[in-house]
Amino acid sequence: MNVLLIGGGGREHALAWALSASPLLTKLYAAPGNAGIAELAECIALDVADHAAVLAFIKEKAIGFVVIGPEAPLVGGLGDALAQAGTKHFGPSKAAAELEGSKGFTKDLCREAGIPTGAYGRFKDAASAKAYLAAEPVPIVVKANGLAAGKGVVVAATRAEAEAAVDACFAGAFGAAGAEVVIEEFLDGEEASFFALCDGRTALALATAQDHKRVGDDDTGPNTGGMGAYSPAPVITPALSARIMDEIIRPTVESMAARGTPFKGVLFAGLMITADGPKLIEYNVRFGDPETQVLMMRLQSDLLAAMIATADGVLDHFDLRWRDDAALTVVLAAKGYPGTPEKGTEIKGLEGAGDVAGVQIFHAGTRREGGRLLADGGRVLNVTALGATVAEAQARAYEAIAKIDWPGGFWRTDIGWRAVLREKARA
Ligand code: AMP
Ligand code: GLY
Repeated sequence: MNVLLIGGGGREHALAWALSASPLLTKLYAAPGNAGIAELAECIALDVADHAAVLAFIKEKAIGFVVIGPEAPLVGGLGDALAQAGTKHFGPSKAAAELEGSKGFTKDLCREAGIPTGAYGRFKDAASAKAYLAAEPVPIVVKANGLAAGKGVVVAATRAEAEAAVDACFAGAFGAAGAEVVIEEFLDGEEASFFALCDGRTALALATAQDHKRVGDDDTGPNTGGMGAYSPAPVITPALSARIMDEIIRPTVESMAARGTPFKGVLFAGLMITADGPKLIEYNVRFGDPETQVLMMRLQSDLLAAMIATADGVLDHFDLRWRDDAALTVVLAAKGYPGTPEKGTEIKGLEGAGDVAGVQIFHAGTRREGGRLLADGGRVLNVTALGATVAEAQARAYEAIAKIDWPGGFWRTDIGWRAVLREKARA
């Protein structure tokens, strides 16, 4: 079968790598892809917001299955256009993608279905938002309701900071995404990412993973899309995983089905593990980046078969196998990220780095110019390794990074620290 993969980040390189191993795959296309994906797929320039152009390409290349990586095309309704044309695909409908497209939508659904999450309010003007703030304790969290490329969230330490965030939102800092503001109770605890394939009725949990959101070592500095990840995440014990499925994931799947907008694809719950148990911070309707990089390293089952089972609604007959090994990925970012990253700096030494035992390098934002590999984004490379323990995977990833010659880049030096400490405590 010919497959079209939409996207061009590290997540998509990892998906392309796993899809390439499928005996069901004939030829893989990626739009737009990147320099790493180009080694596995034919990369094409396609405006994915132009649904007619995507459908024409699918017809021309006899594509049998489409995998939609990022949220924007999902929220933009690409899944619906494919469904109407009868093309099988992985990723939810526009209506189901509201779980990521509108934070207020998800909060309302949690309230209706009794899903544990922080208290909140939804506001369309600054005066009512500030009146709500006046009665709430700090810290408190102010969010643009819509998609803001991960930038629309302010964890405010003071009321003045929260009010400034409200004003910025309504002043248009996040465009249409900020026309509504959601104010949320601050949840204290350890964050974890939880993924489940959902076919509209059945949810199948994936292996656990944990991301590092802050740009700097010791979890300091501004939030990013994620600076590194590892799997498994020891904070999510099997008992906690069962609780997350029962209290959060399954009620969501049931509630979406009852509304007539069943969720099909991968549901990514951002969780806070609090003293009172797991609480939902937010949903994403796609795989996490960089969590996918570690999950794909550990997945033994055929990813394409799993995605087709998800689309076909037969997950109740499906199971996934995972390696016992741990996986860890370190994001190499261009200097300036998460602000304005420096583009076009040259990267050398990837071949030697990729030769370290257990290491795979996924490209997140690269392009080739002549024979040279150039940085082309904020997050640029994901150096990923398997190991018997998180500590071993971590050592291998950093051994590989030491072989990379890229003065234009930087990375955290402590990815996986929580898991490594837990491993030491257990030993
Ligand atoms: P989001 O884009 O909603 O995942 O928010 C980005 C980050 O802000 C999260 O990964 C958390 O670190 C933090 N955050 C968001 N909402 C809350 C909350 N209610 N309580 C504590 N931290 C939060
Ligand atoms: N790593 C978090 C995300 O993909 O949004």
